[in-house]
Amino acid sequence: MRGKLMVGNWKMNGSLAANAALLSDILAGMGELSCRAAVCVPAPYLAQAQRLLSGSALWLGAQDVSAHDAGAYTGEVSADMLRDFAVRYCIVGHSERRQYHGETDAQVAAKVQRALSAGITPIVCLGESLSEREAGLTEAVVKRQLAAVIQANGHCISEIVVAYEPVWAIGTGLTASPDQAQQVHAVLRAQLRAASAHAERVPIVYGGSMGAANAADLLAQPDVDGGLIGGAALRATEFLSLLTTASC
Ligand code: 13P
Repeated sequence: MRGKLMVGNWKMNGSLAANAALLSDILAGMGELSCRAAVCVPAPYLAQAQRLLSGSALWLGAQDVSAHDAGAYTGEVSADMLRDFAVRYCIVGHSERRQYHGETDAQVAAKVQRALSAGITPIVCLGESLSEREAGLTEAVVKRQLAAVIQANGHCISEIVVAYEPVWAIGTGLTASPDQAQQVHAVLRAQLRAASAHAERVPIVYGGSMGAANAADLLAQPDVDGGLIGGAALRATEFLSLLTTASC
């Protein structure tokens, strides 16, 4: 059994004071978890979050990693740097990076390689835009995005986490229905199976307006192994209720 994995993506939100309050409320309310949980914080707050999360059951994550090892790449953060802060997970290829920073499938695949070689689990984000869905291209798009990662990472592919995040559902309040999510997750699962004998252990999580109102139905789907949560992860009570739902 894969168990559920619930990951908060804080995106470009927070401050020293706000992070301390949010993490302290989450840790105080967390109790015993039977799901895995993490928060992916902005890079400048990794040291703060590492200190506050130390000894807790909440893992630390980052939101991006450089495709390069080290050197003259101003503004970039390497996988080894992330490892210095005990980062366990790193989001890679989020649609906001693909959309606003022009990240290509090849760059995403290279970032996944860097994370894996530093012992960090990449959370590889895939998803179609609204126009791609309307044109019937959903499967083709997510398969192309995953194929690039599989091709570059070979047998290590069973060490990744996949996040299906339909772009039209991110921050919009629109959520994929449980059936829509399951359909795409099943396609991704089949693609992973064809690439690795260990595909069953790859968590495929869903992201896009996941919240207390829809999480239980999404998480009940056989191939939905957790959530990548944006807005709701910034509110302690809502994030905690999602962790409880995933722990059932
Ligand atoms: P929302 O939950 O705010 O829609 O964001 C989802 C997301 O992009 C997580 O990575």
